[in-house]
Amino acid sequence: MALGYVTTCDYIPVPEDAVEELLRLARLKRGDVIYDLGCGTGELLIVAAGEYGARGVGIEVSRRLAEWAVKEVEKRGLEDKINIIRDNFFFPKYWAHLEGGEEKPYAIRKADAVYMYLTLQVQEALRGMLEKELKEGARVISYAFRLQDWKPVKEALINETPAYIYVKGKSF
Ligand SMILES: C[S@@+](CC[C@H](N)C(=O)[O-])C[C@H]1O[C@@H](n2cnc3c(N)ncnc32)[C@H](O)[C@@H]1O
Repeated sequence: MALGYVTTCDYIPVPEDAVEELLRLARLKRGDVIYDLGCGTGELLIVAAGEYGARGVGIEVSRRLAEWAVKEVEKRGLEDKINIIRDNFFFPKYWAHLEGGEEKPYAIRKADAVYMYLTLQVQEALRGMLEKELKEGARVISYAFRLQDWKPVKEALINETPAYIYVKGKSF
Protein backbone atom coordinates (compact mmCIF):
# COMPACT_ATOMS: atom_id res chain seq x y z
CA MET A 1 0.00 0.00 0.00
CA ALA A 2 1.18 3.52 -0.76
CA LEU A 3 0.52 5.12 2.60
CA GLY A 4 3.13 7.54 3.80
CA TYR A 5 4.90 8.52 0.62
CA VAL A 6 4.25 11.64 -1.33
CA THR A 7 3.11 11.42 -4.93
CA THR A 8 1.62 14.32 -6.81
CA CYS A 9 0.85 15.45 -10.34
CA ASP A 10 0.19 18.74 -12.10
CA TYR A 11 -3.05 20.67 -12.32
CA ILE A 12 -4.98 20.20 -15.54
CA PRO A 13 -8.62 21.22 -15.10
CA VAL A 14 -11.33 18.89 -16.33
CA PRO A 15 -12.96 20.47 -19.39
CA GLU A 16 -16.08 22.35 -18.25
CA ASP A 17 -18.39 20.46 -20.59
CA ALA A 18 -17.13 17.06 -19.37
CA VAL A 19 -18.25 17.63 -15.77
CA GLU A 20 -21.99 16.98 -16.26
CA GLU A 21 -21.27 13.86 -18.27
CA LEU A 22 -18.93 12.49 -15.60
CA LEU A 23 -21.49 13.08 -12.84
CA ARG A 24 -24.23 11.49 -14.91
CA LEU A 25 -22.06 8.44 -15.55
CA ALA A 26 -21.39 8.23 -11.81
CA ARG A 27 -25.18 8.22 -11.20
CA LEU A 28 -24.76 10.93 -8.60
CA LYS A 29 -27.89 11.55 -6.52
CA ARG A 30 -29.10 14.17 -4.05
CA GLY A 31 -27.46 13.61 -0.68
CA ASP A 32 -24.59 11.49 -2.03
CA VAL A 33 -21.13 12.26 -0.72
CA ILE A 34 -18.56 12.70 -3.47
CA TYR A 35 -14.80 13.06 -2.98
CA ASP A 36 -12.58 14.73 -5.54
CA LEU A 37 -9.02 13.56 -4.89
CA GLY A 38 -6.94 16.50 -6.11
CA CYS A 39 -9.89 18.84 -6.56
CA GLY A 40 -8.03 21.77 -8.17
CA THR A 41 -10.39 24.77 -8.13
CA GLY A 42 -13.34 22.61 -7.08
CA GLU A 43 -15.18 22.79 -10.40
CA LEU A 44 -16.68 19.29 -10.35
CA LEU A 45 -17.71 19.49 -6.69
CA ILE A 46 -19.45 22.82 -7.28
CA VAL A 47 -21.60 21.28 -10.02
CA ALA A 48 -22.16 18.13 -7.90
CA ALA A 49 -23.43 20.22 -4.97
CA GLY A 50 -25.13 23.03 -6.87
CA GLU A 51 -26.95 20.96 -9.49
CA TYR A 52 -27.18 17.46 -8.05
CA GLY A 53 -27.63 18.31 -4.36
CA ALA A 54 -24.63 16.18 -3.40
CA ARG A 55 -22.18 16.90 -0.60
CA GLY A 56 -18.55 17.19 -1.58
CA VAL A 57 -15.12 16.78 -0.08
CA GLY A 58 -12.11 18.01 -2.05
CA ILE A 59 -8.55 17.33 -1.01
CA GLU A 60 -6.00 19.50 -2.80
CA VAL A 61 -2.27 19.65 -2.14
CA SER A 62 -1.66 23.04 -3.77
CA ARG A 63 -2.34 25.90 -1.37
CA ARG A 64 -3.09 28.30 -4.22
CA LEU A 65 -5.64 25.96 -5.82
CA ALA A 66 -7.23 25.01 -2.50
CA GLU A 67 -7.68 28.69 -1.59
CA TRP A 68 -9.13 29.37 -5.01
CA ALA A 69 -11.56 26.45 -4.57
CA VAL A 70 -12.65 27.77 -1.15
CA LYS A 71 -13.37 31.19 -2.72
CA GLU A 72 -15.38 29.62 -5.55
CA VAL A 73 -17.40 27.60 -3.04
CA GLU A 74 -18.07 30.68 -0.90
CA LYS A 75 -19.02 32.77 -3.92
CA ARG A 76 -21.85 30.30 -4.59
CA GLY A 77 -22.89 29.90 -0.96
CA LEU A 78 -22.09 26.19 -0.96
CA GLU A 79 -19.93 26.15 2.20
CA ASP A 80 -22.40 23.91 4.03
CA LYS A 81 -22.20 21.33 1.23
CA ILE A 82 -18.54 21.36 0.17
CA ASN A 83 -15.50 20.94 2.34
CA ILE A 84 -12.14 21.79 0.76
CA ILE A 85 -9.12 20.42 2.59
CA ARG A 86 -5.64 21.74 1.75
CA ASP A 87 -3.55 18.64 2.16
CA ASN A 88 -1.95 15.62 0.58
CA PHE A 89 -4.46 12.82 0.10
CA PHE A 90 -1.81 10.20 0.84
CA PHE A 91 -1.79 11.14 4.49
CA PRO A 92 -3.26 8.18 6.35
CA LYS A 93 -5.70 10.35 8.28
CA TYR A 94 -7.98 10.44 5.21
CA TRP A 95 -8.14 6.70 4.88
CA ALA A 96 -8.50 4.54 7.95
CA HIS A 97 -12.05 5.30 9.02
CA LEU A 98 -11.73 4.52 12.71
CA GLU A 99 -9.43 5.93 15.32
CA GLY A 100 -9.81 4.56 18.85
CA GLY A 101 -13.23 3.22 17.84
CA GLU A 102 -14.39 6.68 16.61
CA GLU A 103 -15.27 7.48 13.00
CA LYS A 104 -12.89 10.11 11.63
CA PRO A 105 -14.53 13.21 10.18
CA TYR A 106 -13.06 12.98 6.68
CA ALA A 107 -12.83 9.23 6.36
CA ILE A 108 -13.29 8.24 2.73
CA ARG A 109 -15.55 5.44 3.93
CA LYS A 110 -18.35 8.04 3.88
CA ALA A 111 -17.99 8.44 0.11
CA ASP A 112 -20.72 7.26 -2.24
CA ALA A 113 -18.53 8.34 -5.14
CA VAL A 114 -14.85 9.18 -5.59
CA TYR A 115 -13.65 11.13 -8.59
CA MET A 116 -10.03 11.25 -9.73
CA TYR A 117 -8.35 12.97 -12.61
CA LEU A 118 -4.73 12.18 -11.86
CA THR A 119 -1.85 10.38 -13.53
CA LEU A 120 -1.89 6.60 -13.82
CA GLN A 121 0.99 6.41 -11.35
CA VAL A 122 -0.86 8.42 -8.70
CA GLN A 123 -4.11 6.50 -9.24
CA GLU A 124 -2.30 3.19 -8.94
CA ALA A 125 -0.72 4.41 -5.70
CA LEU A 126 -4.23 5.12 -4.37
CA ARG A 127 -5.70 1.81 -5.46
CA GLY A 128 -4.87 -0.28 -2.39
CA MET A 129 -6.32 2.33 -0.08
CA LEU A 130 -9.53 2.63 -2.07
CA GLU A 131 -9.90 -1.16 -2.09
CA LYS A 132 -9.53 -1.29 1.67
CA GLU A 133 -11.52 1.73 2.79
CA LEU A 134 -14.44 2.29 0.41
CA LYS A 135 -17.84 0.93 1.35
CA GLU A 136 -19.62 -1.66 -0.80
CA GLY A 137 -21.37 -0.05 -3.74
CA ALA A 138 -19.21 3.09 -3.73
CA ARG A 139 -18.45 4.30 -7.25
CA VAL A 140 -15.04 5.42 -8.47
CA ILE A 141 -14.89 7.66 -11.52
CA SER A 142 -11.52 7.93 -13.15
CA TYR A 143 -11.01 10.35 -15.97
CA ALA A 144 -8.26 9.67 -18.50
CA PHE A 145 -6.64 6.57 -16.99
CA ARG A 146 -7.81 3.03 -16.43
CA LEU A 147 -6.83 1.29 -13.23
CA GLN A 148 -5.03 -1.85 -14.24
CA ASP A 149 -6.56 -4.49 -11.95
CA TRP A 150 -10.11 -3.17 -11.81
CA LYS A 151 -12.92 -4.04 -14.18
CA PRO A 152 -14.96 -0.98 -15.14
CA VAL A 153 -18.75 -1.33 -15.07
CA LYS A 154 -18.95 1.46 -17.63
CA GLU A 155 -16.62 3.21 -20.05
CA ALA A 156 -17.20 6.34 -22.08
CA LEU A 157 -15.34 8.79 -24.25
CA ILE A 158 -15.81 12.34 -23.04
CA ASN A 159 -14.16 15.04 -25.12
CA GLU A 160 -12.05 12.31 -26.68
CA THR A 161 -10.76 11.31 -23.26
CA PRO A 162 -11.77 7.98 -21.73
CA ALA A 163 -13.69 7.84 -18.46
CA TYR A 164 -14.14 4.70 -16.36
CA ILE A 165 -16.69 3.91 -13.67
CA TYR A 166 -15.92 1.24 -11.11
CA VAL A 167 -18.08 -0.09 -8.30
CA LYS A 168 -16.74 -1.57 -5.08
CA GLY A 169 -17.96 -5.15 -4.88
CA LYS A 170 -18.24 -5.52 -8.67
CA SER A 171 -15.08 -4.02 -10.14
CA PHE A 172 -12.69 -4.61 -7.27
C1 LIG B 1 -5.26 16.80 -13.29
S1 LIG B 1 -5.65 17.89 -11.94
C2 LIG B 1 -7.39 17.60 -11.74
C3 LIG B 1 -8.08 18.74 -11.01
C4 LIG B 1 -9.59 18.52 -10.78
N1 LIG B 1 -9.84 17.28 -10.06
C5 LIG B 1 -10.32 18.49 -12.07
O1 LIG B 1 -10.73 17.41 -12.50
O2 LIG B 1 -10.46 19.57 -12.69
C6 LIG B 1 -4.92 16.97 -10.56
C7 LIG B 1 -4.96 17.74 -9.25
O3 LIG B 1 -4.56 16.86 -8.21
C8 LIG B 1 -3.77 17.57 -7.28
N2 LIG B 1 -2.95 16.58 -6.58
C9 LIG B 1 -2.01 15.78 -7.13
N3 LIG B 1 -1.46 14.97 -6.22
C10 LIG B 1 -2.07 15.26 -5.04
C11 LIG B 1 -1.93 14.74 -3.72
N4 LIG B 1 -1.04 13.78 -3.44
N5 LIG B 1 -2.73 15.23 -2.75
C12 LIG B 1 -3.66 16.19 -3.04
N6 LIG B 1 -3.82 16.74 -4.27
C13 LIG B 1 -3.04 16.26 -5.27
C14 LIG B 1 -2.98 18.54 -8.15
O4 LIG B 1 -2.47 19.63 -7.40
C15 LIG B 1 -4.04 18.94 -9.17
O5 LIG B 1 -4.78 20.06 -8.75
